[in-house]
Amino acid sequence: VEPLRIALAGLGTVGGGVVRLLDTNRDLIERRAGRAIEIVAVSARDRTKDRGIDLSRFDWTDDTSALAHHPRADVVVELIGGSDGPALTLARATLSAGKAFVTANKAMLAHHGLELAQAAEASGVALKFEAAVAGGVPVVKGLREGAAANAIDRVYGILNGTCNFTLSKMEAENRDFAEVLAEAQALGFAEADPSFDIDGIDAAHKLSILASLAFGTQPAFGDVAITGIRHVLGADIAEAAALGYRVRLVGVAEAGASGLFQRVHPHLVPIDHPLAHTTGSLNAVVADGNFVGRLFFQGRGAGDGPTASAVVADLIDIARGEYGAPYAMPAAALTRPATADA
Ligand code: NDP
Ligand code: HSE
Repeated sequence: VEPLRIALAGLGTVGGGVVRLLDTNRDLIERRAGRAIEIVAVSARDRTKDRGIDLSRFDWTDDTSALAHHPRADVVVELIGGSDGPALTLARATLSAGKAFVTANKAMLAHHGLELAQAAEASGVALKFEAAVAGGVPVVKGLREGAAANAIDRVYGILNGTCNFTLSKMEAENRDFAEVLAEAQALGFAEADPSFDIDGIDAAHKLSILASLAFGTQPAFGDVAITGIRHVLGADIAEAAALGYRVRLVGVAEAGASGLFQRVHPHLVPIDHPLAHTTGSLNAVVADGNFVGRLFFQGRGAGDGPTASAVVADLIDIARGEYGAPYAMPAAALTRPATADA
Protein backbone atom coordinates (compact mmCIF):
# COMPACT_ATOMS: atom_id res chain seq x y z
CA VAL A 1 0.00 0.00 0.00
CA GLU A 2 1.29 3.46 -0.88
CA PRO A 3 2.00 5.76 2.10
CA LEU A 4 -0.05 8.92 2.60
CA ARG A 5 2.44 11.64 1.68
CA ILE A 6 2.40 14.98 3.47
CA ALA A 7 3.68 18.46 2.70
CA LEU A 8 4.06 20.37 5.99
CA ALA A 9 4.03 24.17 6.22
CA GLY A 10 5.28 25.47 9.58
CA LEU A 11 7.84 23.82 11.86
CA GLY A 12 7.22 25.71 15.10
CA THR A 13 5.55 24.41 18.27
CA VAL A 14 2.86 22.40 16.47
CA GLY A 15 4.74 21.56 13.25
CA GLY A 16 7.71 20.30 15.26
CA GLY A 17 5.29 18.26 17.39
CA VAL A 18 3.80 16.65 14.29
CA VAL A 19 7.25 15.60 13.01
CA ARG A 20 8.14 14.12 16.42
CA LEU A 21 4.80 12.35 16.81
CA LEU A 22 4.97 10.77 13.35
CA ASP A 23 8.52 9.61 14.12
CA THR A 24 7.81 8.30 17.62
CA ASN A 25 4.52 6.48 16.91
CA ARG A 26 5.32 5.50 13.33
CA ASP A 27 4.51 1.77 13.63
CA LEU A 28 1.36 2.25 15.70
CA ILE A 29 0.09 4.89 13.26
CA GLU A 30 0.80 2.71 10.25
CA ARG A 31 -1.17 -0.17 11.82
CA ARG A 32 -4.12 2.03 12.69
CA ALA A 33 -4.15 4.01 9.44
CA GLY A 34 -3.64 0.95 7.28
CA ARG A 35 -0.65 2.59 5.60
CA ALA A 36 2.38 4.69 6.52
CA ILE A 37 2.08 8.46 6.91
CA GLU A 38 5.20 10.10 5.59
CA ILE A 39 6.29 13.73 5.41
CA VAL A 40 7.89 14.43 2.02
CA ALA A 41 8.27 18.24 2.00
CA VAL A 42 8.44 21.06 4.54
CA SER A 43 8.52 24.84 4.65
CA ALA A 44 9.17 27.50 7.29
CA ARG A 45 10.77 30.94 7.35
CA ASP A 46 14.30 30.05 8.39
CA ARG A 47 15.93 26.86 7.20
CA THR A 48 18.96 27.34 9.45
CA LYS A 49 17.04 27.50 12.75
CA ASP A 50 17.95 24.67 15.15
CA ARG A 51 14.69 22.77 15.67
CA GLY A 52 16.13 19.49 16.91
CA ILE A 53 14.78 17.93 13.70
CA ASP A 54 16.79 16.44 10.85
CA LEU A 55 15.40 18.32 7.85
CA SER A 56 17.71 16.66 5.33
CA ARG A 57 15.20 13.82 4.81
CA PHE A 58 12.54 16.23 3.48
CA ASP A 59 12.32 18.44 0.40
CA TRP A 60 12.60 22.06 1.55
CA THR A 61 11.02 25.09 -0.07
CA ASP A 62 11.12 28.77 0.89
CA ASP A 63 7.99 29.27 -1.19
CA THR A 64 5.28 27.93 1.10
CA SER A 65 2.52 28.11 -1.51
CA ALA A 66 4.55 25.78 -3.76
CA LEU A 67 3.70 22.97 -1.33
CA ALA A 68 0.21 22.90 -2.84
CA HIS A 69 1.73 21.59 -6.06
CA HIS A 70 4.43 19.33 -4.64
CA PRO A 71 4.38 16.38 -7.04
CA ARG A 72 4.57 13.69 -4.35
CA ALA A 73 2.30 15.20 -1.68
CA ASP A 74 -1.28 13.93 -1.27
CA VAL A 75 -2.12 16.24 1.64
CA VAL A 76 -0.96 19.68 2.77
CA VAL A 77 -0.78 20.44 6.51
CA GLU A 78 -0.75 24.15 7.39
CA LEU A 79 0.75 25.05 10.79
CA ILE A 80 1.86 28.63 10.13
CA GLY A 81 -1.04 30.61 11.58
CA GLY A 82 -2.66 33.94 10.75
CA SER A 83 -6.10 34.52 9.29
CA ASP A 84 -4.73 35.73 5.95
CA GLY A 85 -1.28 35.84 4.35
CA PRO A 86 0.66 32.68 3.49
CA ALA A 87 -1.72 30.34 5.34
CA LEU A 88 -4.74 31.46 3.33
CA THR A 89 -2.81 31.52 0.07
CA LEU A 90 -1.71 27.95 0.72
CA ALA A 91 -5.22 26.82 1.70
CA ARG A 92 -6.75 28.22 -1.48
CA ALA A 93 -3.99 26.82 -3.70
CA THR A 94 -4.18 23.36 -2.09
CA LEU A 95 -7.96 23.01 -2.29
CA SER A 96 -8.13 24.27 -5.84
CA ALA A 97 -5.35 21.81 -6.77
CA GLY A 98 -7.67 19.05 -5.50
CA LYS A 99 -5.57 18.03 -2.50
CA ALA A 100 -6.74 17.46 1.06
CA PHE A 101 -5.93 20.20 3.55
CA VAL A 102 -5.37 19.88 7.30
CA THR A 103 -4.97 22.91 9.54
CA ALA A 104 -4.84 24.00 13.19
CA ASN A 105 -5.55 27.57 12.16
CA LYS A 106 -8.71 28.73 13.89
CA ALA A 107 -8.16 32.36 12.94
CA MET A 108 -8.26 31.49 9.24
CA LEU A 109 -11.32 29.25 9.63
CA ALA A 110 -13.18 31.83 11.72
CA HIS A 111 -12.71 34.39 8.95
CA HIS A 112 -12.69 32.26 5.80
CA GLY A 113 -14.23 28.94 6.86
CA LEU A 114 -17.20 29.12 4.52
CA GLU A 115 -15.09 29.96 1.47
CA LEU A 116 -12.65 27.14 2.25
CA ALA A 117 -15.46 24.66 2.95
CA GLN A 118 -17.01 25.49 -0.40
CA ALA A 119 -13.64 25.14 -2.16
CA ALA A 120 -13.13 21.74 -0.53
CA GLU A 121 -16.61 20.62 -1.53
CA ALA A 122 -16.13 21.88 -5.09
CA SER A 123 -12.92 19.84 -5.39
CA GLY A 124 -14.32 16.86 -3.47
CA VAL A 125 -11.43 16.83 -1.00
CA ALA A 126 -11.13 16.89 2.78
CA LEU A 127 -10.74 20.03 4.86
CA LYS A 128 -9.91 18.89 8.39
CA PHE A 129 -9.25 20.99 11.48
CA GLU A 130 -9.53 18.96 14.69
CA ALA A 131 -6.57 20.85 16.19
CA ALA A 132 -8.18 24.25 15.59
CA VAL A 133 -10.58 23.93 18.53
CA ALA A 134 -9.45 22.88 22.03
CA GLY A 135 -6.06 21.46 20.94
CA GLY A 136 -5.91 17.74 21.67
CA VAL A 137 -9.57 17.41 22.72
CA PRO A 138 -11.51 15.62 19.94
CA VAL A 139 -14.43 18.01 20.08
CA VAL A 140 -14.75 18.64 16.33
CA LYS A 141 -15.17 14.91 15.76
CA GLY A 142 -17.32 14.65 18.89
CA LEU A 143 -19.81 17.27 17.74
CA ARG A 144 -19.72 16.61 14.01
CA GLU A 145 -19.86 12.83 14.24
CA GLY A 146 -20.67 11.70 17.78
CA ALA A 147 -23.52 14.18 18.31
CA ALA A 148 -24.61 14.32 14.67
CA ALA A 149 -28.10 12.99 15.43
CA ASN A 150 -28.87 15.68 18.02
CA ALA A 151 -30.32 19.16 18.00
CA ILE A 152 -28.01 21.27 20.18
CA ASP A 153 -29.30 24.30 22.05
CA ARG A 154 -26.11 25.50 23.62
CA VAL A 155 -22.39 24.86 23.42
CA TYR A 156 -19.97 26.49 25.82
CA GLY A 157 -16.61 26.05 27.44
CA ILE A 158 -13.05 27.03 28.18
CA LEU A 159 -11.40 27.45 24.81
CA ASN A 160 -8.05 29.09 25.47
CA GLY A 161 -5.21 27.27 27.24
CA THR A 162 -3.09 30.37 27.76
CA CYS A 163 -5.86 32.23 29.61
CA ASN A 164 -6.82 29.19 31.64
CA PHE A 165 -3.20 28.54 32.59
CA THR A 166 -2.81 32.18 33.56
CA LEU A 167 -6.01 32.41 35.62
CA SER A 168 -5.37 29.07 37.37
CA LYS A 169 -1.78 29.91 38.30
CA MET A 170 -2.71 33.39 39.46
CA GLU A 171 -5.17 31.76 41.86
CA ALA A 172 -3.27 28.65 42.96
CA GLU A 173 0.17 30.21 43.23
CA ASN A 174 -0.80 33.82 43.90
CA ARG A 175 1.36 34.89 40.98
CA ASP A 176 1.44 37.99 38.84
CA PHE A 177 -0.46 38.06 35.48
CA ALA A 178 2.55 39.06 33.35
CA GLU A 179 4.85 36.46 34.91
CA VAL A 180 2.40 33.58 34.36
CA LEU A 181 1.64 34.73 30.82
CA ALA A 182 5.38 34.67 30.06
CA GLU A 183 5.50 31.08 31.33
CA ALA A 184 2.57 30.12 29.06
CA GLN A 185 4.43 31.66 26.11
CA ALA A 186 7.62 29.75 26.99
CA LEU A 187 5.61 26.51 27.06
CA GLY A 188 4.37 27.17 23.49
CA PHE A 189 0.73 27.70 24.48
CA ALA A 190 0.30 31.31 23.34
CA GLU A 191 -0.35 32.69 19.87
CA ALA A 192 2.50 34.49 18.08
CA ASP A 193 0.78 37.68 19.29
CA PRO A 194 -0.42 36.80 22.82
CA SER A 195 -2.96 39.63 22.81
CA PHE A 196 -5.07 37.24 20.69
CA ASP A 197 -5.17 34.99 23.76
CA ILE A 198 -5.62 37.47 26.60
CA ASP A 199 -8.08 39.68 24.73
CA GLY A 200 -10.37 36.71 24.06
CA ILE A 201 -9.96 36.77 20.27
CA ASP A 202 -8.55 33.26 20.01
CA ALA A 203 -11.39 31.88 22.16
CA ALA A 204 -13.85 33.75 19.94
CA HIS A 205 -12.30 32.24 16.80
CA LYS A 206 -12.81 28.78 18.30
CA LEU A 207 -16.31 29.57 19.53
CA SER A 208 -17.39 30.66 16.06
CA ILE A 209 -16.14 27.33 14.66
CA LEU A 210 -17.84 25.34 17.44
CA ALA A 211 -21.07 27.22 16.81
CA SER A 212 -20.90 26.41 13.10
CA LEU A 213 -20.50 22.72 13.99
CA ALA A 214 -23.28 22.73 16.57
CA PHE A 215 -25.82 24.80 14.65
CA GLY A 216 -24.95 24.22 10.99
CA THR A 217 -24.27 27.89 10.35
CA GLN A 218 -21.29 29.62 8.81
CA PRO A 219 -18.58 30.77 11.25
CA ALA A 220 -19.50 34.35 12.17
CA PHE A 221 -16.56 35.69 14.16
CA GLY A 222 -17.76 39.28 13.75
CA ASP A 223 -20.91 38.44 15.71
CA VAL A 224 -19.08 37.28 18.86
CA ALA A 225 -19.19 39.71 21.80
CA ILE A 226 -15.70 39.57 23.32
CA THR A 227 -14.10 40.59 26.63
CA GLY A 228 -10.72 39.10 27.52
CA ILE A 229 -8.82 38.70 30.79
CA ARG A 230 -6.42 41.63 30.46
CA HIS A 231 -8.14 43.52 33.28
CA VAL A 232 -8.72 40.61 35.67
CA LEU A 233 -6.78 41.31 38.86
CA GLY A 234 -5.38 38.95 41.47
CA ALA A 235 -7.75 40.68 43.89
CA ASP A 236 -10.76 39.78 41.69
CA ILE A 237 -9.71 36.13 41.69
CA ALA A 238 -9.22 36.12 45.50
CA GLU A 239 -12.59 37.79 46.05
CA ALA A 240 -14.31 35.26 43.77
CA ALA A 241 -12.63 32.39 45.67
CA ALA A 242 -13.84 33.78 48.99
CA LEU A 243 -17.39 33.68 47.61
CA GLY A 244 -17.02 30.09 46.30
CA TYR A 245 -16.24 30.82 42.64
CA ARG A 246 -13.36 30.61 40.20
CA VAL A 247 -12.74 33.03 37.35
CA ARG A 248 -12.65 31.36 33.94
CA LEU A 249 -12.69 32.77 30.39
CA VAL A 250 -15.77 31.06 28.94
CA GLY A 251 -17.21 31.12 25.42
CA VAL A 252 -20.95 30.51 25.02
CA ALA A 253 -23.01 30.02 21.86
CA GLU A 254 -26.74 29.53 22.25
CA ALA A 255 -29.65 29.34 19.86
CA GLY A 256 -32.56 31.52 20.84
CA ALA A 257 -35.85 32.44 19.22
CA SER A 258 -34.21 35.40 17.51
CA GLY A 259 -31.00 33.69 16.34
CA LEU A 260 -27.61 32.63 17.58
CA PHE A 261 -25.99 34.50 20.46
CA GLN A 262 -22.19 34.15 20.83
CA ARG A 263 -20.06 35.67 23.58
CA VAL A 264 -16.67 35.24 25.25
CA HIS A 265 -15.95 36.82 28.62
CA PRO A 266 -14.59 36.11 32.11
CA HIS A 267 -17.21 34.17 34.10
CA LEU A 268 -17.61 33.40 37.78
CA VAL A 269 -17.87 29.60 37.82
CA PRO A 270 -19.20 27.88 40.97
CA ILE A 271 -16.46 25.84 42.64
CA ASP A 272 -18.43 22.60 42.22
CA HIS A 273 -18.85 23.05 38.42
CA PRO A 274 -16.55 20.94 36.19
CA LEU A 275 -15.29 24.11 34.47
CA ALA A 276 -13.89 25.28 37.83
CA HIS A 277 -11.78 22.10 37.88
CA THR A 278 -10.52 22.65 34.36
CA THR A 279 -7.10 23.95 35.35
CA GLY A 280 -3.80 24.85 33.70
CA SER A 281 -3.74 24.43 29.91
CA LEU A 282 -6.83 22.19 29.96
CA ASN A 283 -9.81 23.16 27.83
CA ALA A 284 -13.36 21.92 28.26
CA VAL A 285 -16.45 22.00 26.06
CA VAL A 286 -20.01 21.30 27.16
CA ALA A 287 -22.79 20.62 24.64
CA ASP A 288 -26.42 19.81 25.39
CA GLY A 289 -28.00 17.49 22.83
CA ASN A 290 -31.74 16.78 22.77
CA PHE A 291 -31.27 12.99 22.78
CA VAL A 292 -27.77 12.37 24.12
CA GLY A 293 -28.11 14.89 26.98
CA ARG A 294 -25.04 16.65 28.28
CA LEU A 295 -21.67 15.97 26.67
CA PHE A 296 -18.50 17.09 28.43
CA PHE A 297 -15.16 17.07 26.62
CA GLN A 298 -11.97 17.93 28.50
CA GLY A 299 -8.24 17.69 27.85
CA ARG A 300 -5.14 19.66 27.03
CA GLY A 301 -6.03 22.56 24.80
CA ALA A 302 -2.58 23.84 23.82
CA GLY A 303 1.03 22.79 23.43
CA ASP A 304 2.99 20.70 20.96
CA GLY A 305 1.98 17.16 21.99
CA PRO A 306 -1.81 17.60 22.34
CA THR A 307 -2.10 19.72 19.20
CA ALA A 308 0.06 17.38 17.12
CA SER A 309 -2.13 14.52 18.36
CA ALA A 310 -5.20 16.19 16.82
CA VAL A 311 -3.42 17.02 13.54
CA VAL A 312 -2.23 13.44 13.12
CA ALA A 313 -5.69 12.10 13.99
CA ASP A 314 -6.98 14.04 10.97
CA LEU A 315 -4.21 12.54 8.83
CA ILE A 316 -5.12 9.03 9.99
CA ASP A 317 -8.73 9.66 8.97
CA ILE A 318 -7.57 10.74 5.52
CA ALA A 319 -5.22 7.75 5.22
CA ARG A 320 -8.17 5.48 6.01
CA GLY A 321 -10.35 7.24 3.44
CA GLU A 322 -12.61 8.59 6.22
CA TYR A 323 -12.92 12.14 5.02
CA GLY A 324 -16.16 12.99 6.78
CA ALA A 325 -18.04 16.03 5.58
CA PRO A 326 -15.50 18.59 4.38
CA TYR A 327 -16.81 21.09 6.88
CA ALA A 328 -19.58 21.39 9.43
CA MET A 329 -22.42 20.74 7.07
CA PRO A 330 -23.04 20.90 3.32
CA ALA A 331 -22.24 24.37 2.03
CA ALA A 332 -25.93 25.05 1.47
CA ALA A 333 -26.58 24.75 5.20
CA LEU A 334 -23.58 26.93 5.99
CA THR A 335 -25.11 29.86 4.19
CA ARG A 336 -27.97 30.14 6.72
CA PRO A 337 -27.75 33.35 8.72
CA ALA A 338 -25.75 33.01 11.91
CA THR A 339 -27.59 35.62 13.93
CA ALA A 340 -30.90 37.39 14.02
CA ASP A 341 -29.49 40.44 12.31
CA ALA A 342 -27.04 38.68 9.94
P1 NDP B 1 4.83 28.91 15.83
O1 NDP B 1 4.95 30.38 15.83
O2 NDP B 1 5.51 28.13 16.89
O3 NDP B 1 5.26 28.30 14.42
C1 NDP B 1 4.89 28.90 13.22
C2 NDP B 1 5.70 28.28 12.10
O4 NDP B 1 5.30 28.90 10.88
C3 NDP B 1 7.20 28.48 12.23
O5 NDP B 1 7.89 27.31 11.85
C4 NDP B 1 7.50 29.61 11.25
O6 NDP B 1 8.80 29.54 10.65
C5 NDP B 1 6.46 29.37 10.19
N1 NDP B 1 6.12 30.60 9.48
C6 NDP B 1 5.72 31.77 10.02
N2 NDP B 1 5.49 32.68 9.05
C7 NDP B 1 5.76 32.05 7.89
C8 NDP B 1 5.74 32.45 6.53
N3 NDP B 1 5.41 33.70 6.18
N4 NDP B 1 6.07 31.54 5.59
C9 NDP B 1 6.43 30.29 5.93
N5 NDP B 1 6.47 29.86 7.21
C10 NDP B 1 6.15 30.74 8.16
O7 NDP B 1 3.24 28.62 15.88
P2 NDP B 1 2.48 27.38 16.50
O8 NDP B 1 3.13 26.14 16.06
O9 NDP B 1 2.24 27.63 17.94
O10 NDP B 1 1.05 27.54 15.80
C11 NDP B 1 0.84 27.14 14.47
C12 NDP B 1 -0.66 27.13 14.20
O11 NDP B 1 -1.30 26.22 15.10
C13 NDP B 1 -1.36 28.48 14.43
O12 NDP B 1 -2.44 28.58 13.54
C14 NDP B 1 -1.90 28.35 15.85
O13 NDP B 1 -2.99 29.18 16.11
C15 NDP B 1 -2.31 26.90 15.85
N6 NDP B 1 -2.41 26.26 17.14
C16 NDP B 1 -1.39 26.34 18.04
C17 NDP B 1 -1.47 25.70 19.24
C18 NDP B 1 -0.40 25.78 20.25
O14 NDP B 1 -0.58 25.25 21.37
N7 NDP B 1 0.75 26.39 19.96
C19 NDP B 1 -2.65 24.88 19.59
C20 NDP B 1 -3.67 24.82 18.54
C21 NDP B 1 -3.54 25.49 17.38
P3 NDP B 1 10.17 29.69 11.48
O15 NDP B 1 10.16 28.53 12.45
O16 NDP B 1 11.24 29.57 10.47
O17 NDP B 1 10.09 31.01 12.18
N1 HSE C 1 -3.02 29.98 21.96
C1 HSE C 1 -3.97 28.92 22.01
C2 HSE C 1 -4.37 28.67 23.42
C3 HSE C 1 -3.38 27.69 21.39
O1 HSE C 1 -3.68 29.12 24.34
O2 HSE C 1 -5.38 28.00 23.65
C4 HSE C 1 -4.36 26.55 21.25
O3 HSE C 1 -5.32 26.84 20.28
